[in-house]
Amino acid sequence: MRLIYFLGLALSSCSVLGKVVPPSRTCSVRPLGKGRDDTTQVEAAIATCGQFGSTVFEEGTFNITRKMTWNLQSSKVDLKGFLSFNPDIQFWLNPNNTYRVVFIQSQASWFVVTGDNFIIDAHNTGGIQGNGQTWWSYFATHTKADGDGRPISLTVFNATRATIKNFKILSPPFWSNTVAQSREIVYDGMFVNASNQDPLYVGKNVVPNTDGINTYRSDNVSLLNWDVTCGDDCLAIKGNSTNILARNITCRGGNGIAFGSLGQYANLSDIVQNVEMDNLLITRIDPNVQPNMANGIYFKSWTGTANGVPPTAGGGGGGFVNNVIASNVKLDRVNAPLHLYQTNGGHSADLPSQLSFGGLHFANWSGTALTNKIIDIECSPAVGCADITFESFTVSAPAGQSPRFICQNTDDVTGLSAPCNATGQA
Ligand SMILES: *[C@@H]1O[C@H](CO)[C@@H](O)[C@H](O)[C@H]1NC(C)=O
Ligand SMILES: *[C@@H]1O[C@H](CO)[C@@H](O)[C@H](O)[C@H]1NC(C)=O
Ligand SMILES: *[C@@H]1O[C@H](CO)[C@@H](O)[C@H](O)[C@H]1NC(C)=O
Ligand SMILES: *[C@@H]1O[C@H](CO)[C@@H](O)[C@H](O)[C@H]1NC(C)=O
Ligand SMILES: *[C@@H]1O[C@H](CO)[C@@H](O)[C@H](O)[C@H]1NC(C)=O
Ligand SMILES: *[C@@H]1O[C@H](CO)[C@@H](O)[C@H](O)[C@H]1NC(C)=O
Ligand SMILES: *[C@@H]1O[C@H](CO)[C@@H](O)[C@H](O)[C@H]1NC(C)=O
Ligand SMILES: *[C@@H]1O[C@H](CO)[C@@H](O)[C@H](O)[C@H]1NC(C)=O
Ligand SMILES: *[C@@H]1O[C@H](CO)[C@@H](O)[C@H](O)[C@H]1NC(C)=O
Ligand SMILES: *[C@@H]1O[C@H](CO)[C@@H](O)[C@H](O)[C@H]1NC(C)=O
Repeated sequence: MRLIYFLGLALSSCSVLGKVVPPSRTCSVRPLGKGRDDTTQVEAAIATCGQFGSTVFEEGTFNITRKMTWNLQSSKVDLKGFLSFNPDIQFWLNPNNTYRVVFIQSQASWFVVTGDNFIIDAHNTGGIQGNGQTWWSYFATHTKADGDGRPISLTVFNATRATIKNFKILSPPFWSNTVAQSREIVYDGMFVNASNQDPLYVGKNVVPNTDGINTYRSDNVSLLNWDVTCGDDCLAIKGNSTNILARNITCRGGNGIAFGSLGQYANLSDIVQNVEMDNLLITRIDPNVQPNMANGIYFKSWTGTANGVPPTAGGGGGGFVNNVIASNVKLDRVNAPLHLYQTNGGHSADLPSQLSFGGLHFANWSGTALTNKIIDIECSPAVGCADITFESFTVSAPAGQSPRFICQNTDDVTGLSAPCNATGQA
């Protein structure tokens, strides 16, 4: 048996701050290898040592063939190797074989981490191998839809006081990370790479929806030192994300950093408050690998009319985004440096969105755009946007073109070198 665990050497219970802490246990697990299935031994190690203990997964590849939850309490996991999710697409697409704990868009998860007071350290040598190429090539010729069952690689759900560090997610089939219904979560040193290598799709974005992370219904989440190569949102701040810090983030290709989409559920309001983003690099990469580099930061809500129902459509939801600061942002050949729109998934006859954006602050932005629409802020005529400020915002338009700053339905916008108005036309 490869699963070894030691009952802590000190077998007597001790008392810390009045709580009885049982003797700590340590489990150590090595990959079985030879095409064998590691799921049972991985689950057994967490069952034995995941509460008041520590678990070491040694370097190598652990073959995971079915959905798995880790419930960690006062626990440390050293994930030196990769959990490699067996790419049996039809198996995972059967709704019985994934979890649906992420409420928004009924997204599927194959691996859920829950609990409190835990650390998962992947030592920059481990994490998750999503074997996404099989999925990307398959879905290049099959219909995709939100909630269709493509699994999120790492879901942190209903967790409190946790750190995930030095963790790689390679080839995620879908969203790399989601944090939902959690608080006091620190992600420090996350590396994500979703890059097509199928020669059939060179120069095409066949890695849609490979977002770096979606935050949802979570408070006090820190995203530190991320390096994300993907074909969609590098970070996506969704409804009821509060007290979010993102610092030292590199986004390579894809759609850039999103707030949203918001207002998809007509019966729920989406609140996003107190978001600080600092030291961001958003950069275009080799177009053969990833042709898109759509935005720097963008904000999006659905319209005020519900068009169908989630997961695939929606709208009509209210709420607000307030107190956002994005500072020290470097852009490299993005299409739209700063964009805000409130017509996601909408039709021209829709009611305007009731979801309001305000308290948006942008400082120390530099770099280049591939179009001259440097700022394009189109707020809902129903609610407008209040308190938008800029300081040292110097993103350049292509050579020979004058930059356009568009601001619709905004109060006074301060700090720009030229007026920002409804047409942006000089
Ligand atoms: C993982 O285990 C499954 C089930 O036994 C097996 O079919 C598959 O080939 C294994 N994968 C690898 C990479 O060993
Ligand atoms: C899911 O599991 C239920 C209960 O076992 C079963 O009745 C149903 O047929 C399964 N669905 C699929 C798509 O396999
Ligand atoms: C969330 O975790 C708590 C324990 O911390 C548990 O009591 C509760 O049932 C969990 N909720 C869900 C939806 O899993
Ligand atoms: C936020 O989370 C961090 C990290 O867990 C923690 O140190 C801090 O006390 C939390 N802040 C609040 C206000 O809960
Ligand atoms: C991402 O993976 C591709 C394909 O393996 C590789 O060429 C590229 O260098 C990787 N990106 C980073 C940032 O390591
Ligand atoms: C920023 O994050 C990268 C990893 O993406 C890391 O290598 C680098 O040291 C970090 N920089 C600072 C100043 O912490
Ligand atoms: C909101 O509507 C969704 C369906 O669009 C439903 O699943 C959810 O339960 C509703 N939530 C509340 C709080 O009514
Ligand atoms: C967000 O929080 C508010 C207030 O607590 C609540 O009314 C709303 O339903 C929540 N929205 C979502 C998407 O959970
Ligand atoms: C902007 O950059 C200047 C000069 O480097 C620095 O003094 C200032 O604190 C920065 N502002 C923010 C909000 O980071
Ligand atoms: C928008 O700003 C430009 C540049 O200052 C100015 O020339 C133009 O008249 C303004 N347009 C409107 C509609 O205010």
